[in-house]
Amino acid sequence: MKFFVDTADTAEIKALAASGLLDGVTTNPSLIAKSGRKILDVVAEICALVEGPVSAEVAATDYDGMMREAAVLRAIASNVTVKLPLTPDGLRACKALTGEGVMTNVTLCFSSAQALLAAKAGATFVSPFVGRLDDIGQDGMELIADIMQIFGNYAALTTEVLVASIRHPIHLIQAAKMGAHVATLPPAVLRQLYHHPLTDKGLAGFLADWAKTGQTIAPPAGA
Ligand code: G3P
Repeated sequence: MKFFVDTADTAEIKALAASGLLDGVTTNPSLIAKSGRKILDVVAEICALVEGPVSAEVAATDYDGMMREAAVLRAIASNVTVKLPLTPDGLRACKALTGEGVMTNVTLCFSSAQALLAAKAGATFVSPFVGRLDDIGQDGMELIADIMQIFGNYAALTTEVLVASIRHPIHLIQAAKMGAHVATLPPAVLRQLYHHPLTDKGLAGFLADWAKTGQTIAPPAGA
């Protein structure tokens, strides 16, 4: 499973990329606004920090406008993934960009019918938002299960399911059990994955016992 981080905070991305476990980045207009920076500058900086796909979202809502913005975004770096809303114009732009060999991420997916349309449009990724469905009393993970089942029925559909709007590690684990291809995680959730109280307790115990030995791990004398 690929791990993307869902942020436009380049300091966070730099720190998380140092783990070697980060496969890509997703941004959206709200995250760019939160960064307080210009989209072209932020996306260029992220693309230099991470080798994998970096989603940058169009703001236009009509096909021609999306294609114009996509041309600007894709010129930033070869790992830019053009993010498009799940609308008729967005899917038309997705189909056209896919035909030109551009990576695409179709966002704001809330139903399996929408996911199927994105796959038919040749999207590289489709982003179902699990947390926002949970927020309105629907089961976000049920949508992931449905999409995985549907995509599994058709070998010709190559679109990867990018689970978005993740709120906590359980979303990630459930998505992984379903075989979802990618999860985009808020930085705080990505950091949470490392932690378990028994790891902390166990390490403290090992270090205390090790200190009693008076040993150090170093090359043997004369080596
Ligand atoms: O980037 C898309 C998605 O992950 C947004 O999540 O937390 O705003 O629902 P959220």
